[in-house]
Amino acid sequence: MSALTEATTSDLTVRKLHPALGAEVRGIDMRRPLDPATASALQAIWMEHLVLVFPSQNVTDAEHVAFTRYFGEPEIFHQKIIRSERVQEIFRVSNVNEDGVLMPPDHPVAQQVALAQFWHTDSSYKDIPCTGALLHGVEVSRTGGETQFTNMYLVYDALSPALKRLVDGRKARHNFGHMHSQAALKPLTEEEKAAMPPVWQPIVRQHPVTGRKALYISPIYNDEVEGMSADDAKRLIVELTQIAADPRFVYTHRWETDDVLMWDNRCSMHQVTPFDPRERRVMHRTTIVGQDRVMAG
Ligand code: OGA
Ligand code: MN
Repeated sequence: MSALTEATTSDLTVRKLHPALGAEVRGIDMRRPLDPATASALQAIWMEHLVLVFPSQNVTDAEHVAFTRYFGEPEIFHQKIIRSERVQEIFRVSNVNEDGVLMPPDHPVAQQVALAQFWHTDSSYKDIPCTGALLHGVEVSRTGGETQFTNMYLVYDALSPALKRLVDGRKARHNFGHMHSQAALKPLTEEEKAAMPPVWQPIVRQHPVTGRKALYISPIYNDEVEGMSADDAKRLIVELTQIAADPRFVYTHRWETDDVLMWDNRCSMHQVTPFDPRERRVMHRTTIVGQDRVMAG
């Protein structure tokens, strides 16, 4: 493909990375525009594999945002401390500040970012959660910092009949502030709480594109389950999380610089494995604004 032509569908190669989910896609240069056929081919490949890995994408933040627009509207994150001051659609998953200085591990931003070391799906605490996200490995870690993804369609399918009966038609609460109570994070101020009130989401959701049922929990945010005591709710979320973490459902991504990963938050969870906080890790994320309320499955 010459540098000036658009990518065409015939350039795409797709290689499955794990039986449960994940595919590597080559033949795309994110710095160039996509023709409509390639954009819709990618959309279909994404729906099939849930997580796409695009290696060797040496993109600027602006190019990353432009590529995101093929899949929806990029979100501007509500917390200023996390988003980039330079390109506001960039959410910084980083222990290095924008001046390039490593943060101490007890820095509030480093602490918040470290909560991604627990299973979650992004922005499930919003009335209309995001569709998906695209994460660019700008400075990748070598001491850990691998990202794990689990296929929540398969997790739902694998539940015992008793667990299915328990979760079908039931809602869980997703509370942004709950995350803050789990780490040495400052609790949210009243104003921050009012800006992000907890929401109740069905535990089993129907994916708006594929129509398939997926388990929809986000353990770092789940603080209540409908009709259950606090202890029972906690136990249920832990049990479901353990099933979701079974290696048969999980793809683990070892990052190379300039990988871009794109995942579907409606049918997957992810977490990052621990890494040495003295090692720099700079990841830039765009987030695709959701279109629909979560539909019960
Ligand atoms: C995220 C996230 C994991 C990682 O960007 O939403 O959870 O590997 N990141 O940094
Ligand atoms: Mn995340």
